[in-house]
Amino acid sequence: MNNCIVFTNWKMNKTLTETEEFFKKLVELHGDRRGLELIMCIPSLYIGSVASLCRGSSIRVGSENIYPGNWGAYTGEISAPMLASVGCEVALIGHSERRKYFHEDDELVGRKLKSALEHGIFPIVCIGETREERDAGRMFSVLERQVETCFQCLTTENRLHIAYEPRWAIGTGVIPEYPEIEEAHRFIREEIVKRYGTAFSTNISLLYGGSVSPENSFAICSLEHVDGVGYGGCSLDLDCLSRGIEESIRAFRDNHPLPPA
Ligand code: 13P
Repeated sequence: MNNCIVFTNWKMNKTLTETEEFFKKLVELHGDRRGLELIMCIPSLYIGSVASLCRGSSIRVGSENIYPGNWGAYTGEISAPMLASVGCEVALIGHSERRKYFHEDDELVGRKLKSALEHGIFPIVCIGETREERDAGRMFSVLERQVETCFQCLTTENRLHIAYEPRWAIGTGVIPEYPEIEEAHRFIREEIVKRYGTAFSTNISLLYGGSVSPENSFAICSLEHVDGVGYGGCSLDLDCLSRGIEESIRAFRDNHPLPPA
């Protein structure tokens, strides 16, 4: 695993003009970085335009959500084939804000994952406990249930990223202690190995999300079992995202040396 994986989640932010200006600069700065897998999850509305701007670069453009069916009378929803048709390559699935505000459960997350895989959209599936669950000592059982329920459709050919995003760390500026992040990632990795075997486990990268900043990304990306990070609020500002990317790459270079070019 040599590339440092960085994904963003812009949520419900920016106009089309702001988005295009941001991406023109982003492509110049990070469009072809060795050792970086950069996935920009942005509002679906802008994906077509942004995919054109990113063409020829190594940046992959993703959605923040997906509907688990192909076509039909589902007013306002956007399906995997629709996303793929505008150049969307990745989808964020089961984000905690989808779970919190739109009542998405693990079973629905599993169906969204299946749909993404069927249409060649690369999934980043978010899991993580609430503050109450953690305080009640239920973090591991929640993660175990999420792994069990969300990933039922997986076959050994599939590849995906899993983002561990403790819900209480999102948008709060508060993150778990570093050993706690490592512990959660190790647990998820062990659950995957237990269910799908060691060989398949290498198809899955584990990312951390929740209040990641340029200040903490070096430490987080240096942890064992952490293959990359997700930036929310920070990613709306190109300077913040760029500094975060540099820190993530530096951590990876120091801890996971690249093979010779
Ligand atoms: P923040 O970085 O703003 O906490 O958001 C993270 C997030 O939602 C990643 O999916």
